[in-house]
Amino acid sequence: MRYVYLVTAFVVVLTVSLLGFRGSKFTTPPMDVFPEWAFPGMAYQPKYRPQAASRFFADGRADRPLPPHVMARGELRADDHLYRGKDASGAWARDFPASLTVDLKFMQRGQERYTIYCAPCHGTLGDGNGIAKRYGMGATPSYHDERFRQMAEGEIFNTIAHGSPNKNMLPYADKLVPEDRWAVIAYVRALQRARAGSTADVTDASVRQTLGIE
Ligand code: HEC
Repeated sequence: MRYVYLVTAFVVVLTVSLLGFRGSKFTTPPMDVFPEWAFPGMAYQPKYRPQAASRFFADGRADRPLPPHVMARGELRADDHLYRGKDASGAWARDFPASLTVDLKFMQRGQERYTIYCAPCHGTLGDGNGIAKRYGMGATPSYHDERFRQMAEGEIFNTIAHGSPNKNMLPYADKLVPEDRWAVIAYVRALQRARAGSTADVTDASVRQTLGIE
């Protein structure tokens, strides 16, 4: 029985002296528990490390550039309407992509994104009176101008994705994925519609009465 204690103590001392204390640093390479010559593995096999040079390829690079027109799976983005705001003829699309449903949920998403990313300049009403105006951003136009009422959805999409033509407004492509851009456009349309509203839009008889509309 005494030998059990002795052997245990020996094993502990041996392990610690071979492997060291936890956290200790070594200046020599770590010991191979399974030496490479006995167990050939991947650690020492010939291979290219990232950004290494290569004598095999004519341009001397081990990292190979993608062949032209190669696309990651699921990244094709073939839908011109959804991803570029263009219709089949290549003009700015004048409606929403078929793959999106414009419903209340979509509109609420648009309102939320608009409030975060557009309202600081364009204002909560879309009239260009956002908080940024007080700090000198005077150039923001009103969505209620005739030009913006007539502007195609696709062109608004393009403005969000790439900024305004003279770059007074910078792109928001990194902050809004294509679906969110369309949601924002739906909300901009709602703001424009609301501004153009009149009492004739109230069709519910009881509401008309409450509001005192003849
Ligand atoms: C930092 C301020 C700022 C923010 C934020 C901003 N805009 Fe603008 N936007 C402008 C200014 C300034 C112009 C006028 C640009 C010009 O004259 O080129 C403009 C112009 C536009 C135009 C008209 C472009 C044209 O062709 O004349 C659209 C559409 C538009 N913004 C949509 C948006 C939407 C949607 C958002 C939110 C995703 C947004 N903007 C966020 C400042 C802003």
